[in-house]
Amino acid sequence: ISKVVSETTTRRSMGSKHKKPHVLCVPAPAQGHINPMLKLAKILHSKGFLITFVNTEFNHQRLIRSQDSDVLRGLPSFWFETIPDGLPIPENLDVSQQVASLCKAIDENFLGPFRSLLTKLMSVSDSPVTYIVADVIMGFTLEAATEMDIPEILFWTSGAGSLLCYEQYPNLLDKGLMPIKDSNLLVNGYLDTVYDSIPSMTGIRLKDIPPYIRITNLGDEYMVEFLCRQVERMKTASTIVLNTYHELESDIMDTLSTIFPPCYGIGPLNLLEKEIVHSPLASIKSNLWKEDIECLKWLDSKAPLSVIYVNFGSIAVMTPQQQVEFCWGLVKSSYSFLWIIRPDLVIGDSTMLPPELLAETKSRGFLTSWCPQEQVLKHQSIGGYLTHSGWNSTIESISSGVPMICWPFCGDQQTNCWLSCNKWGVAMEIDNNVKSDEVAKLVIELMNGEKGKEMRKNAIDWKNKAEEACAFPYGSSMVNLEKLIHMLQTSPF
Ligand code: UDX
Repeated sequence: ISKVVSETTTRRSMGSKHKKPHVLCVPAPAQGHINPMLKLAKILHSKGFLITFVNTEFNHQRLIRSQDSDVLRGLPSFWFETIPDGLPIPENLDVSQQVASLCKAIDENFLGPFRSLLTKLMSVSDSPVTYIVADVIMGFTLEAATEMDIPEILFWTSGAGSLLCYEQYPNLLDKGLMPIKDSNLLVNGYLDTVYDSIPSMTGIRLKDIPPYIRITNLGDEYMVEFLCRQVERMKTASTIVLNTYHELESDIMDTLSTIFPPCYGIGPLNLLEKEIVHSPLASIKSNLWKEDIECLKWLDSKAPLSVIYVNFGSIAVMTPQQQVEFCWGLVKSSYSFLWIIRPDLVIGDSTMLPPELLAETKSRGFLTSWCPQEQVLKHQSIGGYLTHSGWNSTIESISSGVPMICWPFCGDQQTNCWLSCNKWGVAMEIDNNVKSDEVAKLVIELMNGEKGKEMRKNAIDWKNKAEEACAFPYGSSMVNLEKLIHMLQTSPF
């Protein structure tokens, strides 16, 4: 890693001849946050910006390991830098870092190394950083940016709906609706209570609000305090960009604009990124796990709309029993399925399925540990997506016209699930206490039932709207991207 850093320093002085504006991109150190930030960084680079992209040492090591390529040493005018996260280095690089510990580390360990990096970039280079674009979660960057008088834009990598829900955390606490005071309430339908205090999200239930606020798990209390602080800090930012498009969340964006500084939807970034597929930057990938591209060949052998894709992202976990229920459900549905089983998806020390189930699975399923998801979702054989409702997965699925079954796990996923099912009509929710019969029933409905057909039609409508939003020159996200570019070009530096 130190080699990466020293090489990038040399490249920086080469690039400095260009005298271009220089944007420092600081993602939150998790897969679902690195992906959209890297997409934005590549787009900005293609528009003439010098880019420095900051990873944690741990994540950069994982990125290098997952790609057989030199591109992570940087390209002319696109550099990588690393800062330590201060956490013990896990023995197994395939295990996701725990969310609350990571947020605590961001709070306690990141500002010092980031300040040093910024000082170095401002002094060593003749192309000093002219703007910072940081993930909202990396709120500490605002402190360093203010000290050094560098302007900063915040990036909320998720949708507008979840931001509005997090913004409600203090209200939920003040009204005594949360945290959950008695665990019996969880089984007595308390979470089905409609919470009607969020304009533009009428009908949302307590269960659809990001669940840290229930304070039922270790680390939740800290997460609530951490998130409230980040959201409050957002209100002092100059501009906020989101990986969404106006048409998808227009009423919610309107509400946001009454609470926050100007908010611009610049997504779906997976569609805007299309422009740079032929540039050398396209070879820089953001996967922390190695992709198995064999699954694409397997998909090629399948009929259109005949395969259900199953993936629970980078953080969700399940018990072995839940895995068995999902698996039997998929088998009973009789549809072919592509199931991504991350090495740390199943709690415990084994991701092995019972042998009789494994045999059934292999006859109609393709199991692997990580895939090129965006390509998978665009593949003509994919008829539906059983997902954890992470925001990237949600927006990638919608912008590919693929309907979903949602099994939300944590954070914004519950809200994304509610929006997908209730506002956009592109998904059905599966009970958290998953049972194989329900899985089979929902998969059959999704793939070929009347409701499934309606959801596919809605998803295709949203896909078309997403393409319009990203169209040059007047699509809503394209216009907002141009505004962002103009802002970044007119830095006082
Ligand atoms: C996390 C949170 O869990 C999520 O709720 C939040 O919105 C973003 O941060 P994650 O769990 O990783 O994200 O889910 P998601 O947001 O869907 O992001 C996963 C990303 O990894 C997607 O861009 C997806 O395309 C990619 N991916 C996932 C792959 O490329 N291959 C895979 O096999 C799985």
